[in-house]
Amino acid sequence: MKIESPRIVVRRSGPLTGSVNVPGAKNSVLKLMAATLLAEGDYVLTNVPAITDVQKMSETLNSLGVATEWLGPHELHLVNSGNITPEVPFEKFDKMRASINVLGPLLTHYGSARINWPGGDDFGGRPINLHVEGLQRMGATIDEGLYDIFAHAERLKGTNIELALPSVGATENLLTAAVYAKGVTVIDNAAREPEVQDLCNMLVSMGADIEGIGTSRLVIHGRERGSLKSTKHTVVADRVQAATYMAAVAVAGGDIMVRSARTEHMEALLNLYARMGVAVTPQRDGVRVTSHERLRAIDFITEPYPGIATDYKPLLVAMLCVSRGEGSVTETLFPGRFKYIEEFRRLGASIAIYGNKATVRGVYELIGSEVKVPDIRAGAALVVAGLVASGETVIRDIAHIDRGYDDLVGKLNGLGADVTRV
Ligand code: EPU
Repeated sequence: MKIESPRIVVRRSGPLTGSVNVPGAKNSVLKLMAATLLAEGDYVLTNVPAITDVQKMSETLNSLGVATEWLGPHELHLVNSGNITPEVPFEKFDKMRASINVLGPLLTHYGSARINWPGGDDFGGRPINLHVEGLQRMGATIDEGLYDIFAHAERLKGTNIELALPSVGATENLLTAAVYAKGVTVIDNAAREPEVQDLCNMLVSMGADIEGIGTSRLVIHGRERGSLKSTKHTVVADRVQAATYMAAVAVAGGDIMVRSARTEHMEALLNLYARMGVAVTPQRDGVRVTSHERLRAIDFITEPYPGIATDYKPLLVAMLCVSRGEGSVTETLFPGRFKYIEEFRRLGASIAIYGNKATVRGVYELIGSEVKVPDIRAGAALVVAGLVASGETVIRDIAHIDRGYDDLVGKLNGLGADVTRV
């Protein structure tokens, strides 16, 4: 008997109604979990999304010596007993970009670290030179092998680092390394994403001294090694998951509440949604999103925060596919992040690519077909596109979606969409 891998089946749906709750952000929680390597003690993280990347990060932390257990559906207890081995076993860490986030905490606290090369979505090359160069400036010796990276430093030294790009991962790694460096570390051109701010806030609650949180200059006054304390922290709401439910109602029509969404973290995107004809009204506990007419096409560029995040792009492309007129997207962060366009074309979308720019001519309706998920955000966007496709859209390789979305199918069903996981 042939066993089929799980897939998601979407049928044309709408108008959507009801409310959906947004959990904590994947791109924050994984870094918060890695930060528990910095100090002994008990940690409780709340608003944790039930996604497979959290499971993977738990397994990796377990192998390093941090125990993890779920206290509830969204509450994770982590215990750093102080018995840490700063070497990630070879078999761990194959699939996540965030795997590199243990490097900074391990190196600064234990004086050495061995990690495997980080994985993550394939956007055509994801270098780590900024992480490496920054740590070297702080006095680390780094050997990059074929399969692993080994870093050593008796004690890191504070210094001035100007990042060539406001890299999220490099900012986070250098920031966590700086908390126990000797002296002051200044990171210029630092990433300002809400998830980076969330990490800063957790580190401060552990006793770190960080100035300039949310700005592009972070100043970290190093503390004595091992002097930080464990903490309890609530993970910041996931702006990309929030944007996904907003995109769903935008294409399918309807009137929904997206609860716990932090609109102040999504201003540039909400302006775009408004220009496309989606009404977005901030409320006390989230945002009301209504869409009653065909969307209008727009042009936009992806940029680091506070600009339009590259992670929103596939959702916006799904919206452009059924908008009136022609729109475009220019990708400035990951020029190779267009693999999914082929899958949209299978649904009848009219998209042309010129270098790092895609132009999309809207069609009235997409056509249900079979598509494969190339990465997390594109996967969610294909599900959204299926809501406005005739017939049935069958989505394969959905493990990517599970890495970053907890119960996308159940949540869309709760809004009245016809989506099934089989
Ligand atoms: N870059 C370098 N050298 C480096 C690091 C980055 O050249 O050492 C370049 C990258 O190639 C890219 C740009 O800098 O062109 C930005 O990359 P960044 O380091 O900011 O991205 P990241 O930390 O690898 C995180 C998220 C991504 C998100 C990007 C941009 C995590 C685990 N991943 O990646 O999220 O797209 O920031 O906001 O936090 C996703 O969640 O689906 C996802 C891919």
